[in-house]
Amino acid sequence: MIEDIIKISKEAGSIIRNGFGTNLNIEFKTNETNLVTQIDKASEKLIKEFISKNYPTHGILAEESGETKNSSDFVWVVDPLDGTTNFAHSLPIFSVSIGVQKSGKTVAGVVYDVMQDIVYCAEKGSGAFANDKKISVSKNDNIGHSLLVTGFPYDLAESNEKIFEKFEAFTRASRGMRRLGSAAIDFCYVAKGVFDGFWEVYLHPWDVCAGKFILEEAGGRVTGFDGEDIDIYSKKILATNGLIHNTMVDIMRKN
Ligand code: IPD
Ligand code: CA
Ligand code: CA
Repeated sequence: MIEDIIKISKEAGSIIRNGFGTNLNIEFKTNETNLVTQIDKASEKLIKEFISKNYPTHGILAEESGETKNSSDFVWVVDPLDGTTNFAHSLPIFSVSIGVQKSGKTVAGVVYDVMQDIVYCAEKGSGAFANDKKISVSKNDNIGHSLLVTGFPYDLAESNEKIFEKFEAFTRASRGMRRLGSAAIDFCYVAKGVFDGFWEVYLHPWDVCAGKFILEEAGGRVTGFDGEDIDIYSKKILATNGLIHNTMVDIMRKN
């Protein structure tokens, strides 16, 4: 199955790459900061057609078209273009994210970094890979030596999580905070030790499913802000190399 997920992620990535920098038809979703383009829709259509043809009994949860229930225990959780705002502004940081769950547990995940042509992938128990090279989290246990990343929800009013206070606290505690604009890539950058930690509120299951799994297979830890176990539907995500996790939980609690 992983080879199939990689294949369709790369095909969807070609559609996105061809659309990059072209005249886009931009529509607003919940508000004027929440965008969708014809390329998000074309990518999703391609991926869904592939699943329906090759895995006709599998369910699908996809960002732009919602849930398609089916008879099997398998569900594909699909973000056809993670980083649409970057894409719409010709900033080359975005991905295709596909996780597959069996009976509610993720068993495979692929994040395709389109412009760098890097496939991040993992299967249950396999470890995590970036273009066939095994990756693992950083060995840094000092928050002061850490590079962290976050993201912000489209609807800031929806959030009463004091995200800017947390942003400030983590900026002061670490070597720096970044905001890349593709949650799936944020997870993978923790998985390969570029970042030491990532946190965000109000992510969606399609932002989380593949990236969380890849990071866990790379030796990382993913919990809620209090260190509690979470699933892909959780609204508060703390994802780290494991070693700075408790320190980040402490900072979360204080801010
Ligand atoms: C968004 C990106 C971004 C995150 C937002 C997500 P989209 O996904 O992952 O990094 O901060 O919360 O919604 O809308 O580009 O698929
Ligand atoms: Ca997304
Ligand atoms: Ca998306």
